Amino acid sequence: MTDTKTTQHSEWSSRFAFILAATGSAVGLGNIWKFPYITGENGGGAFVLVYLLCVLLIGIPIMMAETMLGRRSRQNPIETMKTLAKEAGADSNWHYLGWMGVIAGFLILSYYSVIAGWASAYVLKAFTGSFFGADATEIKGLFDSFVASPVQLIFWHSLFMLATMLIVVRGVNSGIERAVRFLMPSLFVLLILLVAYAMTTDSYDRGIKFLFTPDFSKLTANGVLTAMGHAFFTLSLGMGAIMVYGSYLPKEVSIAKTVILIAGTDTVVALLAGIAIFPIVFASGLEPAAGPGLIFQTLPIAFGNMTGGWLFGILFFVMLVFAALSSSISLIEPAVAWLVENKNMSREQACIWSGAITWLLGLGTVFSFNVWSEIKIFDKTIFHLLDYLTANLMLPIGGFCIAVFAGWIMKQQHTEQELGMPDALSYQAWKTLTCYVAPASVFLVFLHVIGVL
Ligand code: TRP
Repeated sequence: MTDTKTTQHSEWSSRFAFILAATGSAVGLGNIWKFPYITGENGGGAFVLVYLLCVLLIGIPIMMAETMLGRRSRQNPIETMKTLAKEAGADSNWHYLGWMGVIAGFLILSYYSVIAGWASAYVLKAFTGSFFGADATEIKGLFDSFVASPVQLIFWHSLFMLATMLIVVRGVNSGIERAVRFLMPSLFVLLILLVAYAMTTDSYDRGIKFLFTPDFSKLTANGVLTAMGHAFFTLSLGMGAIMVYGSYLPKEVSIAKTVILIAGTDTVVALLAGIAIFPIVFASGLEPAAGPGLIFQTLPIAFGNMTGGWLFGILFFVMLVFAALSSSISLIEPAVAWLVENKNMSREQACIWSGAITWLLGLGTVFSFNVWSEIKIFDKTIFHLLDYLTANLMLPIGGFCIAVFAGWIMKQQHTEQELGMPDALSYQAWKTLTCYVAPASVFLVFLHVIGVL
């Protein structure tokens, strides 16, 4: 993406550039940090199965819809909803959807940045050899004492926010494109390496079984909601991030093929992370349900005990930070694009304001792990509450509205033209998923959680 979008809406240099940026947005902490830990908390196989179904039946059609909305209007999400609602002769209230997206972006980035800060701190820990020869108890001790320190967490959170805003201020540009281009393959190779290490433990089979043998007795209604919410989270859906990226997509590109490729890559990365982590969890006698610290309590054991682990450990956490950066910029981009395009702010001002607000909000998450760990709202710490509110509620609601808008409000002629599917059958498949399957699934899961179903 180029810098010029402040004045005129620009285009990606190619389909490949869009794929890189959207994959960069999708692949992040969600795949490597969040997916394993929520899978562990929700009992494994059955949860994974529901998540995969959600990606396929809800995530992919909605991702196509979101990309399409952006490309049709070529504006920030709030303006996109205004323009397209007008075009379809619909109510102007649709633009509140754009608003919810902007707010969700702030809220997610506020905690995302804190966790990305952990990953940054772990680059240093890997570098200074903290994992060397350490056993599971020592690694856990290291993590526990780290998150107990608000000062350290604030330091790393600030650093990560600063890095994010420095990239965003220059316009989400070719720098990121280049970083992602080399980052994705490298991250992939390192994950394969970790999987190879996991195979050498005597718990590989147990890890695989945990991930891929569904035991539905372990799945709760909230687990189903979490799996669905995660499908949105991991694909960056429901808040306008993909809409913004779609708005830079050249007209001739096939949305369907591109989206399937991105969603596929994202899913493979998450599964690889799971395959690498769970054998280590079992081999070290750890709890799968250890929570948000799971990867920080398991992967360092592998790095501390494998040949070349010092270097691989550094590389891995560096990659993780980059993966988080290419995601975090997409969380704040809708807000910045709106401030610049509609509030006449300079890009610098927009970044300072939105960065400062997010940083401040992030302190709530920092303190959830130490001084405020006892403060519970609806039985959740501030971090858990933010995560639940965004991933489990706001994103699915946003996605539901996007599906309804694309499926029911927009003119068929327009969606057909914009998607440019190769044949009538695949268009019909998208239409059915978007009009019925996706919105109904979201709705039914919500009913299930509040106990009506
Ligand atoms: N998908 C990213 C991840 O898995 C997080 C993310 C980036 C995101 N942009 C988003 C989540 C927009 C929801 C909405 O780490």
